[in-house]
Amino acid sequence: MISFSVAFDPNRGIGYKNVMPWHIKEEMKMFRRNTMYKHILMGQTTYDNLPGKLKDRYVTVVSIDPDYVPEDAEVTHDLIGFLKEHENDETEYVVCGGASIYRQAYPYAKKAYISFIKKKYEVDTWFDVYEEDDWNVILEEDYDEFVYRVLERKEEKTEEDR
Ligand SMILES: NC(=O)c1ccc[n+]([C@@H]2O[C@H](COP(=O)([O-])OP(=O)(O)OC[C@H]3O[C@@H](n4cnc5c(N)ncnc54)[C@H](OP(=O)(O)O)[C@@H]3O)[C@@H](O)[C@H]2O)c1
Repeated sequence: MISFSVAFDPNRGIGYKNVMPWHIKEEMKMFRRNTMYKHILMGQTTYDNLPGKLKDRYVTVVSIDPDYVPEDAEVTHDLIGFLKEHENDETEYVVCGGASIYRQAYPYAKKAYISFIKKKYEVDTWFDVYEEDDWNVILEEDYDEFVYRVLERKEEKTEEDR
């Protein structure tokens, strides 16, 4: 099963100059909660700009560069092939950005973990494919700076919709 974990602001902004636009400790805990002990997938830009190591997660990095060798992670050069291979697995694969990976993986995701950041930030990267109508909310928690929601896709996308 494919899912994704993301935090976005009211304009769907997710990044600025290759890093997160905000530093919200409570929200970082949500990322840990969404991904701990799971298989996770992220683009090379996001992986190379992480502030620290990701412990206790099985990381696969998506890269176009055939010579790229990430530290402490696997690599795939075929994102869509990876998604198709794992979309019906019982094991969950959590897509963790950035923008280009979210955009391509979105149609395959059946579950989502989203932190809806309350304030607007200066951003240069957006999660522009997200549609509220695609999802049912199954859990909601309100924090000072964001609302955390877990969502499930309303209906399966067919191959023709992709
Ligand atoms: N708010 C959040 O929750 C959140 C989470 C994660 C990341 N972010 C933010 O998102 C921003 C980064 O997003 P981004 O889109 O610039 O970078 P990205 O998605 O992390 O990585 C892009 C890299 O992946 C490669 N790539 C993309 N699709 C591919 C494919 N199908 N096959 C092989 N390689 C592929 C790209 O190659 P090409 O250059 O050839 O396309 C590029 O090298 C940062 O600001 C980061 O902080 C935010």
